[in-house]
Amino acid sequence: MAESTDNKPVILEVDNLKKYFPIQKGFFKRVVGQVRAVDGVSFFINEGETLGLVGESGCGKTTTARCILRAVDPSDGQILFLKDSGETVDIATLPEEEMRYLRSEMQMIFQDPYASLNPRMNIFDIVGEPLFVIQQMTDREERTARVRDLLQLVGLRPEYMQRFPHAFSGGQRQRIVIARALALNPRLIVADEPVSALDVSVQAQVLNLMLDLQRKLNLTYLFVAHDLSVVKHICDRVAVMYVGKIVEISPTDDLYYEPLHPYTAALMAAVPVADPRVRSVMTPLEGDVPSPADPPSGCYFHPRCQYAVDICSQEPPELTEVRSQHFVSCHRAHELNLQGIGGARPESDHALTAGDGPL
Ligand SMILES: Nc1ncnc2c1ncn2[C@@H]1O[C@H](COP(=O)(O)OP(=O)(O)O)[C@@H](O)[C@H]1O
Ligand SMILES: [Mg+2]
Repeated sequence: MAESTDNKPVILEVDNLKKYFPIQKGFFKRVVGQVRAVDGVSFFINEGETLGLVGESGCGKTTTARCILRAVDPSDGQILFLKDSGETVDIATLPEEEMRYLRSEMQMIFQDPYASLNPRMNIFDIVGEPLFVIQQMTDREERTARVRDLLQLVGLRPEYMQRFPHAFSGGQRQRIVIARALALNPRLIVADEPVSALDVSVQAQVLNLMLDLQRKLNLTYLFVAHDLSVVKHICDRVAVMYVGKIVEISPTDDLYYEPLHPYTAALMAAVPVADPRVRSVMTPLEGDVPSPADPPSGCYFHPRCQYAVDICSQEPPELTEVRSQHFVSCHRAHELNLQGIGGARPESDHALTAGDGPL
């Protein structure tokens, strides 16, 4: 496993993960190409930490998340997970039988709480199902007590146990989804855009709940979002994905105040700022994410990049550590002075600003 950045052990280490979907044609289903949805992704998460995974739709975030939970089989790479027992396993190649046991240690929360709850099951059955099926908690009283505790934990009234999903609002449904995910005491939660389908006013409540639960239960989160404003408050570090690759990864504050990749800066330009005096100099993103079946030459971002020069269309940049814990893959990272989210960084946590000298 990789070196941890603080004293916490690394709970998940993804190493050169790839997921290619074959493109088939004709009666004989001949493979005529590959959709390289995830193409060599590496990162680690410390226990108790939240890593954000951001990028526009189609960048490969969900596929990365699905590989980690083995909802799809990776094409290549390692996914090392530190089990509660202290043993490390490679999820990428773990036999299905062993994977089933591991599923209680890691759970996924999806974007759409409407789609992920069975409308014909009441809340007791929805939240109690994993207890019954996986933990074999056959005693109904015992299950009722546990479901009651779980509902209280997520801020729902236990009296609502007999109700069905349609009786709840979007935010409440996502709380039910979270209660079910917590039923088996998981250590890692992979949350795929958990608040994207909710009203902005409700988003903050669900995010606060997730932060609260993390502290209480020492949970580790991989938090997927397309919206940078959402991850700012919840993540310790953020990884930015573009066409199947991580283009920048760093501690959250460094990324927000001093982004080093033009794609990150362009995503930031789209985030509304509280201070109207801070105006972005970045051109908003135009065009679409290129198809991972037929990506551009060189740096995949070059056709949309306002800073692109000759080398950008010729050579793929490598992800390199240009400052402590701050990795970027851009040929011009050392010379661009990109604007972050809120103008100047507050003096208190001022570490390095662009222009302080050589990187
Ligand atoms: N089952 C699949 N078969 C073929 N292509 C897929 C499949 N799932 C995802 N893709 C493609 O992989 C790319 C990444 O998709 P996805 O992981 O859903 O991205 P994101 O979650 O960032 O929006 C997209 O181009 C998508 O069309
Ligand atoms: Mg997705």
